[in-house]
Parts: sequence; structure tokens; C-alpha cells
Amino acid sequence: MKKVITYGTYDLLHQGHINLLRRAKELGDYLIVGVTNDSFDRERGKLNVRNNVLDRVEAVKSTGFADQIIIEDYVGQKIDDIQKYDIDIFAIGSDWEGKFDYLNEFCQVVYLPRTEGISSTMLRNETTIDVRIGIIGCGRVARRFPSEADVVSGVKVVAAYDIDPDAAAALADSTSGITVYTDLHDFYKAVDAVYIASPHLTHYYYIKQSISEGKHTLCETPLVLNADQAKEVYALAKENNVFLMEANKTAHCPAFNHLIVMIKSGVIGDVVDVEASLSKLWDDDKTLREFDPLQAGGSMYELGSYPLLPILKLCGIHYETLHLYSRMEDGVDMYTKGVLQFPNAICSFKVGLGVKTEGNLIISGTKGYAYVPAPWWKTDYFELRYEDQNQNKKFYYKWDGAGLRYEIQEFISCIVNHRQSTARLKMHESIAMAEIMQKFGERKYLIEI
Ligand code: CTP
Repeated sequence: MKKVITYGTYDLLHQGHINLLRRAKELGDYLIVGVTNDSFDRERGKLNVRNNVLDRVEAVKSTGFADQIIIEDYVGQKIDDIQKYDIDIFAIGSDWEGKFDYLNEFCQVVYLPRTEGISSTMLRNETTIDVRIGIIGCGRVARRFPSEADVVSGVKVVAAYDIDPDAAAALADSTSGITVYTDLHDFYKAVDAVYIASPHLTHYYYIKQSISEGKHTLCETPLVLNADQAKEVYALAKENNVFLMEANKTAHCPAFNHLIVMIKSGVIGDVVDVEASLSKLWDDDKTLREFDPLQAGGSMYELGSYPLLPILKLCGIHYETLHLYSRMEDGVDMYTKGVLQFPNAICSFKVGLGVKTEGNLIISGTKGYAYVPAPWWKTDYFELRYEDQNQNKKFYYKWDGAGLRYEIQEFISCIVNHRQSTARLKMHESIAMAEIMQKFGERKYLIEI
């Protein structure tokens, strides 16, 4: 029996795919089709795939040409599959001519004629009208946004607003196609969605305004600093039928997502302890907003939502006790340590703007632990470690650019596909973060050191 294998994304299945699969099947007796999984696609820079992996598998199945469908998860898998399934022919479209010659060592490589005039990219572009985004708050964070949005298809940054028109103008100068608005009314008219990167204390006001104008809203983390406000803005988004998302870049990082999914699947047993720290020594300019108590400066507000993310995602939102310890200076916390006790787990985090500490993430379980070195909030590498060191595993990933592209891609994907929530940072997790920020602000559970 002659076995053939081929791989692809098969997004928005089209005639080109069908022809290719038919030709591949005709090369032998048994056809295996490898469909790329969503995170593998993201890792290799395909950020705009419209159908999720299950839909794409179903689409390939519906052609009737595949005798077996497998999922392609990692670089180098093709060689493993060819040996594992005892493959005679590796077939792929002629757009890949020469790229897979290295597989000749393992089986015959055949480049099949590609169907002209059609591709998933073309279909995606045809069916997508760019989501027009406007930026509110054009400071340091927002400046990275346009170049990151550039690599995500289906989105165009078209407008900028800042109470300081010079800041908006500086941002607009850096990228073509951005108009500066001094009137928020005109700004909202020009956009479908809004990215809010203004100072923390203005988020609540702008989110409400943006949602009331019927705009999908992506707001920098921390979304708001109060649980009731968080509940209110999410309810308002639902009411207005728009999507509200907290922009926590770690939540959308492919490697971090993979880590969370693996831990939840039990690879280290039950999670008993999560320790996460993050420090960013910033002693040069104390006049910055980050050090201003009147602008919600300080370590907790600035950095807290990053370590809270793995804690809340792995242990849930129902912690039993919360203890916070802060070293204060001129009204802001230069350093805060938090301890959250759950029914079956204990978690802690450390954040510092004025204290330097090792910034790693350690998740301890009943069978082993996960070690993610700094900068774990931009995860590109982690290890699973066990008593028997032979079982240890290392995982390497790609982290592109400033990493905002992953959250922008998810935001746009939710808008285009009419999803009003993302599993990467769920509404209740975002509300729980706001509640912890509120408890910190109320100083109720806080001990000053
Ligand atoms: N293919 C083909 N003819 C086309 C498009 C794709 O023969 N017009 C082949 C590819 O060469 C590959 C397989 O179909 O062997 C799956 O390709 P995939 O990357 O999923 O499809 P594209 O339409 O090329 O997707 P994209 O535009 O996202 O690159």
C-alpha cells in the first residue's frame, strides 16, 4: 500500500485545497492530511486564520479525500510523521517548490501543481473589511500599537486622540494613515473600535464613552481599579452588543497559553502553589505617572495584573483570603507582595518598581512543577520538571515584536466572528483582577512594611 501525506492550514476551504487533496490522493492508496493547529499557526506568524482547527479538520473531512487526519503541532513534526506512519510520498503544492527537498532523505517528495487564482489569504482579504481602530491616549504604551497592528490583517489604525494634541500628533507622525482628532465626537465617527491606553484612572470614563458610542473596545490593563466598575462596563458592553477586552499581553502570548492548557490537562498533577514575580526598576524619573499617587501609580496598579493572571487562571477566582504587604514611598507602593489562599492551593506574587527581584513564574504541582524564567510575562520558553529528571521537558516558542500583535489578533478575531468573550482572559477573571486592585486601593488587606 502506497501512503501519501500532505499538510496545510485549510482555512476557508476552497477549490485550490480540494484539487490539491484530490491530486495527493491519486498519488497513492492512503492519504494522511496534517492540519496545523491554531497555536502552531500563530507561532509561525499566521495570525489571521479564520476557522479554528476543529472547523478546518471538518472541512478537510468533508472533501472525502483524506483517509486519516492528524494535527500538526510543532516544527520538525513532518519528519516524525513520515517515519511513524511509514510514508512513501510527501506531497505539497508547488508554491513550496524546493522548500521540502530535505525530506527526500525519508521519502519521495512531490510538488503538485497549485491552482491559480485562489488562496485562503485572498478569500480572507475579500471577505474582510478592515476594522478601523482609533487610539485614545498616545503615550509610551500606545506608540508600539500601530506597528504591531500592521502585521495583523483585517485591522487599520486610522485615528488618534489625546488630551495633549502633540502626543497624538507624534503618534500619527510615526505611521501613515492616522488622523489626529481634537474632538472626541469626530474621533468616534471615524472608527469601528477603540484602543484605550490612557492613564489608569481615565479608563472607566473612556470605556463607558466608547461602548456607548457603539464601539468595540480594547483597554489596557488594569481595565479598572474597582470590581463594581468592571461589572458595570462588561454589562454595558453586552447591552450595546459590542466586545470589550482587557489588553493583557501575557494572556495572549502563544507560549503562555500553551503552558496554561498543559497545566490544566494535569501534566504536573494538581496545582498547589503559584509564585509569580515581576519587577521593573525605574529609578530615573520619579515625576512619571507611574510614581504619582494621584494617578494610581505604584507597583500593584502598574504590574499587578500580570502575576495575577496565572494565579487566577490556574486556581480560579474564589480565593479564601488575600494578604498584601507593601513598602510605600511618597504615597505609592515601590514593592508589593501578595498572598492568596485557595481551598487547595496557596499563591503569591511580588511586584516592584523600586525593588529588583528575580522575575520568574513557578507553578508547583503534586507530580512536578513548571519553571518559566524571566521574562515569563513574554513567555518564549518554559520547562516542566519532575523528580525523575529524565522526564523533564523544555518548550521553546517564538515571541514576535512587542507581543501586542497577539492580543490585537484576538480582539479583531472576536469582532469579525461576533464573539463577545475570549477564553484567554475571561470576563470573570478580569473582574476578579479589578476586585483585587480595589482591595489594594482600600488598604483593607494591606500591611505596610
Ligand atoms: N494550495 C493549492 N492551490 C491553492 C492554494 C493552496 O494547491 N490555490 C495547496 C498548498 O500548496 C498546500 C495546501 O493547498 O499544499 C494547503 O495550503 P494552505 O496554506 O492551507 O492554503 P493557502 O490558500 O495557500 O493559504 P494561505 O493563503 O493562508 O497561505
